[in-house]
Amino acid sequence: MSELSLCPLRPDHYDQVIGVLDEWWGGRAVSAALSRLFFIHFQDTSFAVEDEGRCVAFLVGLLSQTDATRAYVHFVGVDPRYRKHGLGRRLHERFASVVGARGVHTIHAVTAPVNTASVAFHQRLGFEVVPGDASADGVSFHRNHDGPGRDRVLLCRRL
Ligand SMILES: CC(C)(COP(=O)(O)OP(=O)(O)OC[C@H]1O[C@@H](n2cnc3c(N)ncnc32)[C@H](O)[C@@H]1OP(=O)(O)O)[C@@H](O)C(=O)NCCC(=O)NCCS
Repeated sequence: MSELSLCPLRPDHYDQVIGVLDEWWGGRAVSAALSRLFFIHFQDTSFAVEDEGRCVAFLVGLLSQTDATRAYVHFVGVDPRYRKHGLGRRLHERFASVVGARGVHTIHAVTAPVNTASVAFHQRLGFEVVPGDASADGVSFHRNHDGPGRDRVLLCRRL
């Protein structure tokens, strides 16, 4: 996979991934949280990996409008056939490099407690779990963080 290169995220990538997104997330209904706007208005800080013109991995990230020292990764996803080859790490490292050069000190992300693979992935990348008000399988999370019943693990990486 090392020959695959990263490029800025584009609106046409949205059309390629939105229909398979829930499948990439193991059947969880996540696509409603990924609007086209992220592929239009955050291109400076969002990236894709293409294989023969097809988007096989992407990261949607943004700079905080509130705190210039913070950045946030909204979504990172890799086609299941391309996983465990370092694409997720490469996307995160590119994001960290770009936002770090713009004065960001911490990168933030949230994930669902049920997504233990995502928690493990982020921890391998140097993210720490922000202590919350509950825990499952030893991982602390924040109850109702994204509304009733939508618990979230909060993750933070210092650059
Ligand atoms: C999580 C995801 C993005 C990882 O992508 P990937 O390209 O397979 O990850 P990488 O190959 O770059 O792995 C980076 C590190 O994370 C680890 N890792 C990746 N997937 C893992 C998993 N399922 N369980 C435990 N560790 C994992 C790797 O072992 C690697 O560690 P190392 O470099 O220290 O050896 C991918 O599995 C995915 O798209 N999952 C569904 C979507 C999702 O949950 N996204 C995150 C929440 S927004």
